[in-house]
Amino acid sequence: MARTPNSTSRAKTTKSRSAASANSTTKGAGAKPKAARAKRAGVWRTAANSDKHELYELAVQEVVAECDFIDKAWKSKRGRLATTLREDFCGTAKACTEWARRRPTNHAIGVDLDRSVILWGEHRHRAHLPASISSRITVLEANVLEVETPKVETIVAMNFSYFIFKERAMLVRYFRRVFESLADDGLFICDAYGGSESHSEVEEERSLDGFTYVWDQNVYNPISGDVVNHIHFRFPDGSEMKRAFTYRWRLWSLPEIQDALREAGFAQTTVYWEGTDSKSNGGNGIFKPSTRGEACAGWIAYLVAEKRKPRAKAAKK
Ligand SMILES: C[S@@+](CC[C@H](N)C(=O)[O-])C[C@H]1O[C@@H](n2cnc3c(N)ncnc32)[C@H](O)[C@@H]1O
Repeated sequence: MARTPNSTSRAKTTKSRSAASANSTTKGAGAKPKAARAKRAGVWRTAANSDKHELYELAVQEVVAECDFIDKAWKSKRGRLATTLREDFCGTAKACTEWARRRPTNHAIGVDLDRSVILWGEHRHRAHLPASISSRITVLEANVLEVETPKVETIVAMNFSYFIFKERAMLVRYFRRVFESLADDGLFICDAYGGSESHSEVEEERSLDGFTYVWDQNVYNPISGDVVNHIHFRFPDGSEMKRAFTYRWRLWSLPEIQDALREAGFAQTTVYWEGTDSKSNGGNGIFKPSTRGEACAGWIAYLVAEKRKPRAKAAKK
């Protein structure tokens, strides 16, 4: 899946991992030693020669796994695959690209407020696609609270982007807009993070291919639930891209999110909880529907909200 700004996500390293270290399994474990790779390429990454969006995608996003999860959710909830996707808070719209790539019947709409990141994704990804794929991707510079799009089967909000809505009324307003933009049998899929370490002000490093990703939980306010998280990138030459990204969020809990989804009209929400790897005792990257989580130090979960419950199948005669 997309790994979030805080690598908290997707692949838990250990169930006691902090938000930041969590997804190191997915990318970190497979990554070649950074020095070896950088040396072979003949160029060392430095703060001066690096692009923050490229590093973000490398460190945080897992769009193939994200689209696999969408397919899995559709198969299990609706017995078929979806064709239309809206990626809210899309940034570079990398998930839109993967969605359009994977099946010729697929169409994707990305929505983001920030023109500069949309343009970066256009130049980096969409400009190099054959027209048969790029023609099925539309990226809109718009606010997810106001955007009007044709009804789609799936809307995703990944990497906790909707945590930007700190007031409950705003969160419900966003979820209502999502509800209204979905087809009748549509699914809204988002992620969330938590665990005891998400309530700590800690900095965690993850070594990647030629750079170090740093998730800096800089502020946690237990009264408001507000957090300020930074992403820094550090390089073998000692240089640093400090505060490449900053997120001022509210750390919403799973029950709060589910309540807000219900209030917005969703008929049913399912939490997908990550399984445990028997050897490492960490997360195994497999998310399954669950009503019982674990009180671990750091976790990532996915929520699938159904606009309507599936119609009961006609009783067989
Ligand atoms: C954490 S990034 C998410 C990038 C990517 N979707 C991912 O999964 O990693 C959050 C993005 O949300 C965008 N954003 C923030 N508020 C928004 C809003 N109200 N409407 C649309 N986009 C918004 C920002 O411009 C930023 O690109």
